Amino acid sequence: MEAPDRNLALDLVRVTEAAALSSARWLGRGDKNAGDQAAVDAMRLSFDTINIAGVIVIGEGEKDEAPMLYGGEEVGTGTGPAMDVAVDPVEGTRLLAYGRPNAISVVGVAPRGSMFDPGPSFYMQKLVVPSAARDAVDLDAPVADNLKAVAKALSKDVDDLVVFVLDKPRHQQLIADIRTAGARIQLHTDGDVAGSLMALDPKDMVDVMMGTGGTPEGVLSACAIRAVGGQMFARLDPQSDSERQNLLDSGVDLKRVLTAEELVTSPDTFFAATGISGGTWLEGVSFSGSGAVTHSLVLRGKTGTMRRIESHHTWDKLMRFSAVKYD
Ligand code: FBP
Repeated sequence: MEAPDRNLALDLVRVTEAAALSSARWLGRGDKNAGDQAAVDAMRLSFDTINIAGVIVIGEGEKDEAPMLYGGEEVGTGTGPAMDVAVDPVEGTRLLAYGRPNAISVVGVAPRGSMFDPGPSFYMQKLVVPSAARDAVDLDAPVADNLKAVAKALSKDVDDLVVFVLDKPRHQQLIADIRTAGARIQLHTDGDVAGSLMALDPKDMVDVMMGTGGTPEGVLSACAIRAVGGQMFARLDPQSDSERQNLLDSGVDLKRVLTAEELVTSPDTFFAATGISGGTWLEGVSFSGSGAVTHSLVLRGKTGTMRRIESHHTWDKLMRFSAVKYD
């Protein structure tokens, strides 16, 4: 098997840029499937130029019956290294549809066989902390103990901390526990990949991400964690009887705690994310009439290099040959 000898993330960012440019046209238009479809189409076309023999392990769509790049779909030119691919053409389809911040387009890639296959799992409980606190927390510990441990590791007080939590009914108790512990909260309707990345970014005000979100989003976040450090502790957390039963039938241990190293076993990961709707963490697509500007985060696990890329796209030249119509 050919090992990846170059920074594939620098190619992958073209894929997330294409998906962001296409889907950003759907900002606030109330149609999450149309925005997702635009991103999927652009992403699929752009993948055709990437020199990998990629197979999608983490696709998205089934859960919401959205248009999908499906699990098992081959992507890339078919030449080059054999890679597992995780995609989320629009992470936060409702954020995009309602024009809320932090919808992003995301791709993670790792050598073939190294990504956790979620099987019939849709939901996962997650605790994401920055590097300094990676050995200080325990998924089974009380919320207050974990927050105390993170605060100590970051040389902060608990009331200095900001915890990213998805604003879902299932998190009522978690939110109450965080408040009782004295920490502060950012409640977001969607987008826990962005939440995980905010927790890892020392410049962002979020210190920790807690709660249950999508399993595919957990594996994608793990690709990034393997590059920038920090840790995710996760456990499958079925939200319906049928999800639970399907997992039990497939022989999964529902008590098992998974780390980022178990979710993506190779350190040789590549990750790219491009902002769609904008936010404090990653700016969104801005159209000028004659082009657009995108902002992306590009990570490589092997070297730990983190790049932020601002790209200026000009329709005049691009539209002469681009297979995707952006203007
Ligand atoms: P989509 O990209 O499928 O819209 O997912 C958005 C999201 O908020 C994820 O960030 C999160 O992991 C998951 O949905 C939570 O699922 P649910 O909204 O069903 O609780």
